[in-house]
Amino acid sequence: MELSWSRSLMVLRLSSAAAAALTLVQVVLVLLTVAKVGSLIEVHGAVGYLSLLATLTATVAAYVWFRQGGSRGLLMHAGGIVVLMLVQIALGELKAVWFHVGLGVLIVVGAIALATLAYRKPGGAA
Ligand code: HEM
Repeated sequence: MELSWSRSLMVLRLSSAAAAALTLVQVVLVLLTVAKVGSLIEVHGAVGYLSLLATLTATVAAYVWFRQGGSRGLLMHAGGIVVLMLVQIALGELKAVWFHVGLGVLIVVGAIALATLAYRKPGGAA
């Protein structure tokens, strides 16, 4: 029987899906703040650190998966988003709002793409 399951791939899929979901939650929190439903920007910041944690987990899992024959592109993609998120957190903390919003859109798209690739095109024996 062909090996079609790997723990690292499962962790990669779940953590990248969590990262994508968390970045979408962040957008909702910003929109609720702008709409004056509540002052949720600090919660947005805290969820940002959780997004970073999920993406770091995805990167470690992508590395292990790559070593097992998985896609190098997924590893690069996950690592790239970690770097962008570190810049993003610095921009958020420094209140560089418009650079932060622009990079935020890129990160949301990139995180959704990472999760989609992890499920659809992980490479290797999946
Ligand atoms: C489209 C996506 C995003 C939008 C529109 C957005 C927007 C904002 C805005 C308007 C602020 C407030 C800046 C201020 O206080 O003047 C902020 C703060 C912040 N954002 Fe984002 N953001 C996005 C994505 C992200 C992501 C992906 C992360 C982390 C990975 C992040 C981390 C933070 C942090 C750490 C703060 C500082 C919070 C604080 O002052 O307590 N944001 N963001």
